[in-house]
Amino acid sequence: MKAQTAGCDAIVLGAGAAGLMAAATAGQAGRRVMVVDHAPHAGRKILISGGGRCNFTNMDMGASQFLSGNPHFAKSALARYTAADFLALVQRHRIPWHEKAAGQLFCDRSARDIVDMLLRECAAAQVDMRLSHRIIDVARDGGGEYRVETDQGVFRARNLIVATGGLSIPKLGATGLAHDLARRFGLRVVAPAPALVPLTFGAQDREWMEPLAGLSVNVGIACRSGTGRHAREVIFRDGMVFTHRGLSGPAILQASSYWQPGQALDIDLLPGVEAGRRVLDIKRDRPRAGGLAMLSMLLPQRLAQVFAQAYLPEGQLAGMPDAVLTAVAHQLGAWRLNPHGTEGYVKAEVTRGGVDTDGLSSRDMEARDVPGLFMVGEAVDVTGWLGGYNFQWAWSSGHAAGQAV
Ligand code: FDA
Repeated sequence: MKAQTAGCDAIVLGAGAAGLMAAATAGQAGRRVMVVDHAPHAGRKILISGGGRCNFTNMDMGASQFLSGNPHFAKSALARYTAADFLALVQRHRIPWHEKAAGQLFCDRSARDIVDMLLRECAAAQVDMRLSHRIIDVARDGGGEYRVETDQGVFRARNLIVATGGLSIPKLGATGLAHDLARRFGLRVVAPAPALVPLTFGAQDREWMEPLAGLSVNVGIACRSGTGRHAREVIFRDGMVFTHRGLSGPAILQASSYWQPGQALDIDLLPGVEAGRRVLDIKRDRPRAGGLAMLSMLLPQRLAQVFAQAYLPEGQLAGMPDAVLTAVAHQLGAWRLNPHGTEGYVKAEVTRGGVDTDGLSSRDMEARDVPGLFMVGEAVDVTGWLGGYNFQWAWSSGHAAGQAV
């Protein structure tokens, strides 16, 4: 194999969101940059994101919308390259966009606009783009230079930016390379797991859930993260959808990032409603109605049937003790379900966990004990909520590393 010594300042592994941003930033600062990716095209995940329209950022951005072993870690990079900065880039490229839900910005036309924009930025910075290169080995020599061996040559640089993402969607080329390299260079890796992913249930639950497949209901789900002084609770109010294998929809995807195997999920089927008072009001106003009629006033019909069968006796509301009705109201406000697992990396939008932030500088993503090694994007133990947060983390962390090399 012919060794190519391109004499780069930085090699970026991964031509995804974070890698392209890092490469363009470093290139525009006058660095000679090479991007190496095994995929035949750059930014493949960007192309499928946001239903093809790429929810590229969120104007309501703060570290509290991210999960990480260190909840403060994301602050510095997010503050130094903000959602407004990325939006300004989008506008400079005259890409039409719109705000969908509060703060969530999407392309009007297609996610392709974002990929093309990043590739134009890289081309303007004369970034050497090496796609379809299989990485065979990565090492650091005695002089501190990084050596990347691929099936098409060996490349060297003083800096290495690892932007190969997480494990979600293996069919798009996701691999654990970033985690492997982190370990190789002495960094710890927080156990990775699928996140922003539908939840699955055991056979017993699936039996009653299956007839509900396709049904959507607005819910509130309280999620807890961290321990000690890092402990916090967040409530996601959004849609939940029954599937053939369990539950999905935005509220469930958000909750999945916090869910640990064996944990129960408490689902508020009437968010913002005082369920106890509401059922007693209905009893007072319509005493001759049955339990199903009452529940149908509160829930979609098919779900009301499941609830009526499980929790209410036959007969008129007038004949039901208040305690029975308030017990049902309690169920409506905190419906406890026990997920079996998740749909896994095949369906997960992101991977939670990853390179432990303890070993990285929050300012520029460089490994504290390995000069010239940078970890950015989804590879790092920083996982955003649904709604454009993960891309913003990719832009911000990529930009931070790109500026530093
Ligand atoms: P990313 O995965 O983008 O890039 C990694 C790159 O490394 C890829 O090009 C890959 O080919 C390459 N690579 C991996 N292993 C390699 C190896 N061994 N050798 C060489 N190259 C290798 N987020 C958001 O904010 N808004 C949204 O709308 C969406 N929507 C969305 C939809 C779907 C279906 C998914 C799966 C994900 C999203 N996301 C999202 C999440 C978002 O796509 C994700 O967080 C970012 O793409 C992460 O950017 P990275 O650059 O870190 O990794």
